[in-house]
Amino acid sequence: MTTLRQEFSVSYSYAVHFTEGLFELTNPLLREVVQEGMDLTIPFRSKIAFVVEAEIAKHHPALVNSIRQYCDAQLPGALSSAGIIEVPGGEYSKNTPAILQRLYDFLHDEKICRHSYAVVIGGGALIDAVGYAAATTHRGVRLIRVPTTVLAQNDAGIGVKNSVNAYGKKNFIGTFAPARAIINDSYFLRSLPQRDWLAGIAEAVKVSLIKDPMFFAYLEKHAEELLRRDMPTMQYVIHRCAQLHLDHISRGGDPFELGSSRPLDFGHWAAHKIEALSGHAIRHGEAVAIGIELDATYSHFAGLITDEDLSRITTLFDALGFSTWRDHLSLLVEGERLENALGEFKEHLGGVLTITLLQRIGAGVDVHEIDTKRMRQAVEAVRGLPRTAPEMADQAA
Ligand SMILES: NC(=O)c1ccc[n+]([C@@H]2O[C@H](COP(=O)([O-])OP(=O)(O)OC[C@H]3O[C@@H](n4cnc5c(N)ncnc54)[C@H](O)[C@@H]3O)[C@@H](O)[C@H]2O)c1
Ligand SMILES: [Zn+2]
Repeated sequence: MTTLRQEFSVSYSYAVHFTEGLFELTNPLLREVVQEGMDLTIPFRSKIAFVVEAEIAKHHPALVNSIRQYCDAQLPGALSSAGIIEVPGGEYSKNTPAILQRLYDFLHDEKICRHSYAVVIGGGALIDAVGYAAATTHRGVRLIRVPTTVLAQNDAGIGVKNSVNAYGKKNFIGTFAPARAIINDSYFLRSLPQRDWLAGIAEAVKVSLIKDPMFFAYLEKHAEELLRRDMPTMQYVIHRCAQLHLDHISRGGDPFELGSSRPLDFGHWAAHKIEALSGHAIRHGEAVAIGIELDATYSHFAGLITDEDLSRITTLFDALGFSTWRDHLSLLVEGERLENALGEFKEHLGGVLTITLLQRIGAGVDVHEIDTKRMRQAVEAVRGLPRTAPEMADQAA
């Protein structure tokens, strides 16, 4: 018997930029990002193809024209051979194989090569779907993500994963493929419905709970400003949340999730299941908020966190308007669903169940066993909490 061993490592580096008005004619950022990655030894010009979420184009009717004008001014020639399509976004884009096919058709018809760029402008769901299409076209074309929701700017759009849903399961098909760059433009957040403005904050609460008690305290202190859509506060929350996610990916020791520990998925085993069971009537962030309340309550029942810490968590979610969604937990306890959900999660992890719980505010802890009776009690405890919807700010401008 003989063995040949192959070994090499590849390092990744990408920037997450923060700007306002990406397609203003005087904003050099997109040109700089594209030029930075240009291979000057290639005799032809890179092309750029834009995938714009239809909902964004609806709220920002001048956008498509602005992109064309920007490219003419800052990237002459780039758009002459590539184009712009509008596609529906939201979870529908991850659930619908015909959308994925449209994305492949577009990248094919526009002749996007491995030195050209696909730019996706949309929420976390469309970003996941386009990321998957880009990562599997020619085994990977260059992707620039322009996330347009809070959740996509602070979490979904800045990491290394892409996916679509299949077999009624979230993210069943996907890749690990970092983007070339991410550009967070706060201008897009102005048109977000209040629901989506708030939903993304759940991921900030999540990462603060497992990594940063000071950030959790900041969220407690500024919940009211967030509720009334104070943009500088939201910009800080997005920036800090993104930084904590990026730090975990680069320094956590497992960027491509080869092991079973997934601290950034705190609260997510239940959240993913509830999203699917609700027929995606509940947003990812909303499901994450109740998933966190559930696992925090279980942590308390397991003697890990104090009553006071648990109460700080549920009070914060109350203040941010998430209490409305608590009833959706009932979806998880019908029949054997809870046991099945934990079983599926274990299967997804490759056989070893690993769930992050809370040791205290700011520190997660992995456990490998869940007492399902205690988990059912936790579900009932969260469902029994009040639903005190705070006074909402006006809808999007
Ligand atoms: N890849 C990852 O690492 C990762 C991490 C977390 C979440 N996710 C995925 O991200 C998705 C959730 O992302 P999301 O919360 O952005 O949801 P989403 O993409 O479904 O967007 C929410 C809603 O906002 C609309 N919208 C988007 N931008 C808008 C804007 N600027 N103005 C007005 N409306 C706008 C969308 O059309 C949609 O109706 C889920 O599919 C989740 O699984 C992926
Ligand atoms: Zn999430």
